[in-house]
Amino acid sequence: MKLSAEQIQLNWVEFNTNIETYITGDRKQKLLDFYKKFEDRIILMPASHKKEYHSAFPGGYVDHVNRVVKAALSMSAVWEGFGCDMTTFTQEELVFSAINHDLGKMGDEEHESYIPQTDQWRRDKLGEEYMHNKKIEFAAVPDRGLFLLQQHDIKYTFNEMLAIQTHDGLYDSANEKYLKSFIPETKPRTSLPFILHQADMMAARIEFEIEWLPKFSQNSVATPKKNYTLSKNIKSSKTKALNSVSSPGLKSMLDSL
Ligand SMILES: [Fe+2]
Repeated sequence: MKLSAEQIQLNWVEFNTNIETYITGDRKQKLLDFYKKFEDRIILMPASHKKEYHSAFPGGYVDHVNRVVKAALSMSAVWEGFGCDMTTFTQEELVFSAINHDLGKMGDEEHESYIPQTDQWRRDKLGEEYMHNKKIEFAAVPDRGLFLLQQHDIKYTFNEMLAIQTHDGLYDSANEKYLKSFIPETKPRTSLPFILHQADMMAARIEFEIEWLPKFSQNSVATPKKNYTLSKNIKSSKTKALNSVSSPGLKSMLDSL
């Protein structure tokens, strides 16, 4: 799958608009500054390294995160409708966790996690469009994401730490200590981690459907019928989006998409 240069830029506007809209206090500007600093890397990042996973294409990361933010807000309303105690977390905590849940995928200060695959065999046979950058020391995605936030003096709450740490749910056995407890005292005291996990899982599943189901039915590469990432108000900011990228290098990369 391939996003157009215009779509990638619109997604970036939506990403920053979510910070402007939902994040408060002095960490709002710190978060905007953080993402501005790494804009050239993050705007073109894939969401995974392998095409069989999800959104392993340029711009896939931001596309995925925006979908998770929207899904988290909708999922939160569903939980509320079923009687969830909504006083145990705030909307800001929900959106902050969604925006930053996969941040650890960006790598560290110096190096990107995912770099283009150089082994043509692995690209062709295993669908690995990207490979892990060996210059980076191993860390789990949630751990690296939380480290990056504290490294840039962006404070997060206990709820946000828990939600980001466990966003993969029980797909990551490391989360069993939080999510597989049979003792009431050690269960999470907020449903935020479950809501974020469901939002993330739904977004990734839908990304799979958008990218792969047309290929299965047509036995060929197909373009999704509908772009699910755009809201009407974001569409209207097309001109702003096209002017939002300041880096000449990034502009030329986007032009080549
Ligand atoms: Fe995710």
